[in-house]
Amino acid sequence: MNVFITREIPDEIKQPLIDEGHTISEWKEKRVMTDSELIDHCKQSDALLCISQKLDSYFFEQCSHLKVIATNSVGFDHIDVAKATELNIPIGNTPEVLSKATSDIAFLLMQNVARKAFFWHKEIVNGNWEFLDPFKNLGIDLQGKTLGIFGLGRIGFELAKSSKGTFDMPIIYHNRSKNEKAESELGARFVSFEKLLEQSDVISVHANLNEENKGIFNKSSFDKMKRTAIFINTARGGLHNEPDLLQAIQEGTIGGVGLDVTNPEPMCKDNPLLEMQNAVVLPHIGSATIETRTAMATLSVKNILAGLKGEQLPECLNPEVYR
Ligand code: 8YV
Repeated sequence: MNVFITREIPDEIKQPLIDEGHTISEWKEKRVMTDSELIDHCKQSDALLCISQKLDSYFFEQCSHLKVIATNSVGFDHIDVAKATELNIPIGNTPEVLSKATSDIAFLLMQNVARKAFFWHKEIVNGNWEFLDPFKNLGIDLQGKTLGIFGLGRIGFELAKSSKGTFDMPIIYHNRSKNEKAESELGARFVSFEKLLEQSDVISVHANLNEENKGIFNKSSFDKMKRTAIFINTARGGLHNEPDLLQAIQEGTIGGVGLDVTNPEPMCKDNPLLEMQNAVVLPHIGSATIETRTAMATLSVKNILAGLKGEQLPECLNPEVYR
């Protein structure tokens, strides 16, 4: 059977598909394909390995024949999973394998913003490494500062572990449900969303984006945060209101921001945030290590292989399709 892959991935990762006698077609152009191009390719395929493509209800109406879809991501806000379930199409994703790499980027952003590392690098590039002014453009210590996590799941847990281990940061969090493991192993404390905003020195966002929490970090939220607080988002840009975030930084409502996801994506190169000395922006590289992207694509291939055999996927977002 034919598998369509929306980006090029290494031959050795695709090999198990070929070993099983399947054929593969890949999108090889260095531009995002249009929705109709995606649909045309999927109409000639039995399975889809989806990397950074939106799969809405129209897509599923046009491609209801697909036996399995594997999204090469842990997040699934770009997929109408309910529609896939209605059509009995199993959707695989790649949780766990990217938790550490993504949390490392949140940890990196937190330190970069706290110590203004990227700002100082740019100062050297701009020829401004000259006279030492001992109290100009200082950063802050993270030691003992409070880390607030919005959405303490696998990735949030890894960040909490790194932050507590390195800077002895007390952990508070706000979730839809309690995280007993984080409470017992890291002393994490569940708080209301308001208390998270008020008490955190650093807030890091690790929730799945959904209709309830879309834009939850907005002017009202930033106004409740400490004026020295750092906002980190490595989850989804849709969780923050970007114009409100820019205003909060420009007006000193909060102390700094580190983003690996933006709203919209990609961020345009003349976005004012990119010029702010207390802002660091990365282009959605949370999972972008050799080891992690290899593990993700390998798991996606396993999801596809299982789906083509009619077996339960190793990681399935909608197991109700098997009931
Ligand atoms: C990218 C991510 O989507 O896993 C996710 O949810 O946002 C990132 O891992 C992925 O790397 C794109 O293939």
